[in-house]
Order: sequence, then structure tokens, then C-alpha cells
Amino acid sequence: MNEKIFLTGKKVVVTGGAGFIGSHVCEELVRIGARVCCVDDYSAGHARNVDFLRRHDNFEVVRADVCDRSAMSSVVAGADVIFHNAASKKNVCLIDPQKDLRVNGGGTLNLLELAREHGVRKFVHASTGSVYGEPTVFPTDEEHPLRPVSYYGVSKLAGERYVDVFHRLYKMDTTILRYFHVYGPRQESNQFGGVVSIFLRNILEKKPLTIFGDGHQERSFTWVKDLVRANLAAATRPESAGRVYNAASGIQVTILELAERMVEMMAAPVPIVHGEPLVGDIMHFDVDNRRIRGELGVEFERDFWGTLQRTLDDFVANLRGVITA
Ligand SMILES: NC(=O)c1ccc[n+]([C@@H]2O[C@H](COP(=O)([O-])OP(=O)(O)OC[C@H]3O[C@@H](n4cnc5c(N)ncnc54)[C@H](O)[C@@H]3O)[C@@H](O)[C@H]2O)c1
Repeated sequence: MNEKIFLTGKKVVVTGGAGFIGSHVCEELVRIGARVCCVDDYSAGHARNVDFLRRHDNFEVVRADVCDRSAMSSVVAGADVIFHNAASKKNVCLIDPQKDLRVNGGGTLNLLELAREHGVRKFVHASTGSVYGEPTVFPTDEEHPLRPVSYYGVSKLAGERYVDVFHRLYKMDTTILRYFHVYGPRQESNQFGGVVSIFLRNILEKKPLTIFGDGHQERSFTWVKDLVRANLAAATRPESAGRVYNAASGIQVTILELAERMVEMMAAPVPIVHGEPLVGDIMHFDVDNRRIRGELGVEFERDFWGTLQRTLDDFVANLRGVITA
């Protein structure tokens, strides 16, 4: 309700809006009547993720690179809120770490400068649990040391630091949301996707599910719609100014458990095989989400298997969208 009061009729920019999470953020913002400008360079996103929103007058799509100063200047002009979701993803970083830093660090700085120039009221920044590296304290709260063990984590931390500096130097109203292992409809199922959608794709293609290592590594799977609520709360609750939050369900599921349950749920006759453990793969997650729940009132879905079933059903119903190159 709060969100409607604050955002209806306001121009909001969603970067990475044609991606997995960004498209869900766009969908909800369109629903509550914000004037949504979805920005994407389609390096990973797809037009089909937001095509269904194009019939709404309060939705527009702009193809642009967040690092492009002049293109982004006209996008940001007149905006009330920026939801910055565009990023070069983890697997891309391994191939091209320079691109990572350019997009995740430089792109964020570019947007922050433009936000300041154009007097944007709020900057909501999508970060990641990867900034912690291998956690040593459990449950892991926001004060845990930040020691990323991937190029991706380093570049996302650079983005976070720029956000923090703009808050400190210019009193910009910013909020950092650290996401963890998000799942739900529209997630990419190629090698750059999440484990849920990759397993699902393999099941549908009747290929084995490969687990790297023994499968006892944990993930804190988080339902995408919970992140939408987290974004809207961050944009509208004054308590969120200058704050960083773990936006995670706190649920722990091992990869082996996930694979076994998915095979069972899909009644799929595919084997589960084990490959070499991945370098830098984090084994244990126990994320403390008390800050975001206490300060912003964001609650997280606890029924992981129920929402997983909804995700599987949605993917099966939209097969053409899932099986991407
Ligand atoms: N999915 C997860 O589990 C997860 C976990 C932690 C953090 N995150 C963060 O959440 C955000 C969204 O991730 P996602 O899973 O939806 O990924 P995604 O790849 O589906 O979406 C990212 C979008 O950004 C776009 N993009 C990339 N570079 C761009 C650029 N230079 N200019 C404009 N657009 C660009 C891509 O085309 C894509 O549509 C990212 O910031 C990511 O780091 C995601």
C-alpha cells in the first residue's frame, strides 16, 4: 500500500529490466502504476521477458548500455527512483573479468553520477552475497567481513562501495540489497543461469544432472517475488536510507537435495552424476535476514519446495522460453 502511494505516477528506471529479476521488478511496478522505463543492453536479457508489459501505457523499453553516459542521461532525467539490476554475471566474469569491472563497477558509478546530476530521489542497488566470499561467521549478517573469492564478487563490491560513497559524500538516499541464489520463472537456463533452471533444462532434455563435488554445498534459495517486495520496500521506506541488507530467505538446501527432489518432482528418469568440485565454490550458507525483516518488514517465502513446484510448472508451460541457446 505504501508503495502505491509513493510510486504511482512516478518515473522509475529499472536497469537490467529484461533480465530475470529485473523483469519481475518491472512487472510489479507496472502493476502499481509507476511509469516504468526498462533499460537493458540484451547481453543476457530477453525481449520476451517483458513483451507482455508492452501493452501498458506506463511501460517503455530502452535498449542501452548502463556504461553509456549520454544514452543513460536521457533515461535518468526526470526519474524518481533507479532500481539498478543490470550486471555482468558470475560465469561471464570468469571469461571476461575486465567487462565485469566495467559494467558492475563503472556502470554503477555512471548511474550514480547521473542520479546525482538529475536529482533522483532514491537509488536501490542489487548486490550479491558473493561480496562476503567464504563466510566464517554463521548466521552471516551484514557486518561480516567482505572478502570476495571471485572476480564477480570483487566487481559487485566495487559497485557497492561507489553506492556507499555517494550516500556518505552527497547524502544520496541509497539502499544496497544483497541477493542470494534467486529462483523463479524467467530465469536463464543456459550455462549463465541458476542451478534450478539448469537442472530443469537438463531434465526436460533428458540429460544427466551434473553436480560439482559431492553435492553437500548449501544454497540459500530465495524466491524472486520476495526480492520484488524487498526492492519496493527499499524504495519507499525511509529507514532504508544508506542501509545494506541481506535479501535472502535464510533457507538452506544442498545441491544434492535439490537435484534429487527435482528428479522426483518431475518424475524424470535422468541420472545424477558428480563432476570435479568447482574452484572457489562456497560450501556453507546460513544467511541472517533479520535486518531486512525487522527494519523493512520484508518476509520471505519459507515453502521452498512449493515455490519450486510453481517454478517448474511455469517453465514447463513456457517451454519455448526456457530452452534457450
Ligand atoms: N540471480 C541470482 O541468483 C542473483 C544473486 C545475487 C545477485 N544477483 C544480482 O541481481 C541482478 C539481476 O540478476 P539476474 O539474475 O536477473 O541476471 P540477468 O542476467 O537475468 O539480468 C541482468 C540483466 O542486465 C542486463 N545487462 C548486463 N549488462 C548490461 C549493461 N552493460 N547495460 C544494460 N544492461 C545490461 C542483461 O542483459 C540482463 O538482462 C544483478 O545485479 C546480479 O548481480 C542475482
